[in-house]
Amino acid sequence: MKIGILISGRGSNMAAIIEAVQNGLIPDSKVAVVISDKTSAEGLLKAKERGVETLSVVKKGRAREEHDAEIIAELKKRAVELVCLAGYMRLLSKDFIRAFPNRIVNIHPSLLPNFKGLDAQRQAIDYGVKVSGCTVHFVDEDLDHGAIIAQKVVEVLDSDTAETLAARILEHEHALYVEAVKNIAEGNVRISGRRVLLKSALT
Ligand code: GRF
Repeated sequence: MKIGILISGRGSNMAAIIEAVQNGLIPDSKVAVVISDKTSAEGLLKAKERGVETLSVVKKGRAREEHDAEIIAELKKRAVELVCLAGYMRLLSKDFIRAFPNRIVNIHPSLLPNFKGLDAQRQAIDYGVKVSGCTVHFVDEDLDHGAIIAQKVVEVLDSDTAETLAARILEHEHALYVEAVKNIAEGNVRISGRRVLLKSALT
């Protein structure tokens, strides 16, 4: 499976996916390209260090559709079959979603549908929840809304700040995202309305 990863920043989830592909944990796959909407994204260097092609596609005052069209073209040129958003800080246009139906996934640092959008870990602390976590989901046109593939619960400690909680959730994000991409690569994922079912769990 050819994978394209979209980032805007640090790229730790991106690095986890690249490494899982390179060490064979995600079978018969290749990360064909990492695309950033920011030339300064730290993740670009991490991708290069791991031998993966990188591109910056900046928006430059263009409409979202035009910016997305350039990214879609780069992904299609490389025959990408699965698009992984990994800290990509933009909403995708309808055209983008239609170009890769049920083939775009994202990771979010909360148990969706709680705490959508920015600063999910701070939202969790401010609300006072006792557990939070992370979610891998398919991407649709609404923010942090598509069908849920996998979730991991992380306890919120009395001593936690938004930063310490974020760091603990992040460790679980890497494993959860890799597991979800592995299941997709192995053809184990079946979509039934809003429910995403694992074939192995059905037999
Ligand atoms: C992660 O917390 C992810 O859940 C969210 O953005 C952050 C990206 O971190 N969507 P990184 O760039 O993968 O290190």
